[in-house]
Amino acid sequence: MLPFHLRNVETRRIEHRPIIPTTAIMPLSPSAAPATPTRPPHVPLVPVLSGASFRRAAGQRLPSVLDVPHVRLVTSGRIALALALRELGVGEGDSVLLPAYHSLSMVPPVLWRQATPRFYRVDAAARADLADIAALCDASVKVLVATHYFGFHQDLAALRALCDARGIALIEDCAHAFFGEYGGRPLGSHGDYAIASSMKFFPMYEGGVLVSARHALERVALHSAGKGFEAKVVLNTLEHSFRYGRLPAVRALLALPLRAKDLLWRRIKASRPAAAAASGGLAPGSSDSDFSFDPRWLDKRSSLFARWLLGRLSKERIVALRRRNYLRLQQALAGLPGCRPLHAALPDGVCPWLFPLVVDDAEGAFARIRQRGLPVVRFAETLWPGVDADRCPDSAYLSRHVLAFPCHQELSEQEFDWMRAGLAEVLAP
Ligand SMILES: Cc1ncc(COP(=O)(O)O)c(C=O)c1O
Repeated sequence: MLPFHLRNVETRRIEHRPIIPTTAIMPLSPSAAPATPTRPPHVPLVPVLSGASFRRAAGQRLPSVLDVPHVRLVTSGRIALALALRELGVGEGDSVLLPAYHSLSMVPPVLWRQATPRFYRVDAAARADLADIAALCDASVKVLVATHYFGFHQDLAALRALCDARGIALIEDCAHAFFGEYGGRPLGSHGDYAIASSMKFFPMYEGGVLVSARHALERVALHSAGKGFEAKVVLNTLEHSFRYGRLPAVRALLALPLRAKDLLWRRIKASRPAAAAASGGLAPGSSDSDFSFDPRWLDKRSSLFARWLLGRLSKERIVALRRRNYLRLQQALAGLPGCRPLHAALPDGVCPWLFPLVVDDAEGAFARIRQRGLPVVRFAETLWPGVDADRCPDSAYLSRHVLAFPCHQELSEQEFDWMRAGLAEVLAP
């Protein structure tokens, strides 16, 4: 039988080629990290549900996108983006300004509206280039999408002023910034609309948010995606947790029903492959980490389970632990030669998605990180065809050189310490 950490190899990926250990995992040498366990933990790249998820924690109360007056809970951020574009009446002949440093999932909603995506520059710190945006603004441009990368906000005052002066709408892309404030107001409240991706901050299998501080969302009518979807969300959330050794009592309780479900599923797959493939559509592609966009999810409400978790889990705890873990990584990794944090400091009012590190020899470090079985995300590793160093040198550079590491609230102390020590060692010369 395989050793524990290899048996539990992650099968669910998250976007932007997160790298989950699938190769041999070597223990750290005792001299490098005396406290390192001999059996390396299997570190969850995204939040996993556990008993601890329900704990309360005192900490900085940061607003979230949910603190904006008009809210719709959908199944992914890209669906929310498509709905925002639809609300704005974007259509054929229109252009939408997207950042050259982007997730591939941001483009299909624009194409679905039959509009043209045009890519504006960001600088070396991933700040939107206002002069380039102004230069791109012609009569066809209807919307600017501004992304708060890794949880760090853009200069919203300047972007808002530019959009107002040009008569174009601003969509805040809070996919990486579920929490945070700018100018004393929640992120998401400065745009005409804002979108967020709940899965990146909460231990859940699906979830996206469309909000607006300016416009009611009455036309966005949503309904349940059905019992199969509701059940799948619960099961997938739980099974993901079990894979990381969370919720052992629930796992024991559900062992038999889950085995029966697996058996039944295998039989269906063998006897009716077409039916099995169709039921793959029980959840959106975003939940299984591809960049696809399926308009059939536009009118689907987020699951009951995800909505219950959103209301139940302590937001203070999420913010406090993410900030704490980020600062610990910053301390451990800052000063290593050949790499630097994308951001020199973690300002008040920021709740990070990941810890982004700019690495000179990113490919070499990436290979060593993979070999060690350490978790890593390469956001925007692949850019939309045509978006290259000529269009935006800094985006091209960031897409190749940023390696990002989890700092989420569901990392156990053991997992976090092992990851931190391993990264410090792997990134040292
Ligand atoms: C910057 C950015 N915007 C939008 C999205 C779309 O979010 P979702 O995956 O929830 O559809 C992503 C996804 O990773 C993203 O990174």
